[in-house]
Amino acid sequence: MNLGLPDDNAVTAQSSETDARGLIHADGGGCPLRERKTLVLTGASRGIGRATGRLFSEAGWRIISCARQPFDAVRCPWDSEGDSYIEVDLSDHRTLPRVIAQIKERLAGAPLQGLINNAGNSPKTPNGARLTSLATSVDTWMSVFHLNLVAPILLAQGLFDELKAASGSIVNVTSIAGARVHPFAGTAYATSKAALACLTREMAHDYASHGIRVNAIAPGEIKTDILSPDTEAYLVPKIPLRRVGTPEEVAKVIFFLCSDAASYVTGAEVPINGGQHL
Ligand SMILES: NC(=O)c1ccc[n+]([C@@H]2O[C@H](COP(=O)([O-])OP(=O)(O)OC[C@H]3O[C@@H](n4cnc5c(N)ncnc54)[C@H](OP(=O)(O)O)[C@@H]3O)[C@@H](O)[C@H]2O)c1
Repeated sequence: MNLGLPDDNAVTAQSSETDARGLIHADGGGCPLRERKTLVLTGASRGIGRATGRLFSEAGWRIISCARQPFDAVRCPWDSEGDSYIEVDLSDHRTLPRVIAQIKERLAGAPLQGLINNAGNSPKTPNGARLTSLATSVDTWMSVFHLNLVAPILLAQGLFDELKAASGSIVNVTSIAGARVHPFAGTAYATSKAALACLTREMAHDYASHGIRVNAIAPGEIKTDILSPDTEAYLVPKIPLRRVGTPEEVAKVIFFLCSDAASYVTGAEVPINGGQHL
């Protein structure tokens, strides 16, 4: 599929090619910062976020990312020009004003084409089991909702002007657990993702007249650190495609939603789950 990246990037692409994943990539590496598309990506250090950062980076985008661990250039092999990594715990809403100020500083007045609210946490019991509504502590409720729901709200609000200037796109990462009881995902996690799906609909409505599209992707079982040890053995027989997904398969859908190919798509929640929702 041609996602129109060279035009999207407003760069005179020095080279573009269709790679094995079927996406046209433009090399924006040599472009001045203000001419490159920029992505703010939370939770870029592992799993789905890492695959997403890599894909966008290969397509010439500049990545501004954040997570709790110190930046690791081996795990996140995209350029870090302008010191574009922010170390932060997004489960504490009091950190958000600082993060937004730091992102704006790094943007230095440039528009923002994409915001991916990917960072998420799914607390389990000490032995990896589902944390039920009977057993979840108030601290867990608060930290899960702050990270999975409040941080996306505040980031989008805080970066509104920059997103509007680019007619940008927001992608919220929800979950299949937001729509049905899941054998491993806990109650706080599931309800936070259901709320994030609802928030996506509300935001799509509110942001549309400003030219900003807001969508969600809802992964099923994707092979990352967040899965419980028993997930594959227990769930793969129930998944129509008979396998878990890869972070790269999720990243490609996020990329599509941020591209011109999705210019008339807003308020959607795209399932990425091998048919698990059927
Ligand atoms: N994998 C799946 O099967 C699946 C299914 C449905 C939905 N999802 C959703 O997909 C998203 C990514 O999940 P993943 O599977 O890629 O998980 P992962 O491998 O555990 O990665 C989570 C990312 O979020 C960051 N993060 C976690 N807590 C944070 C915090 N308090 N503040 C800032 N950053 C934080 C982590 O970095 P640090 O540890 O360095 O902070 C890491 O980069 C999540 O929203 C998750 O709910 C995943």
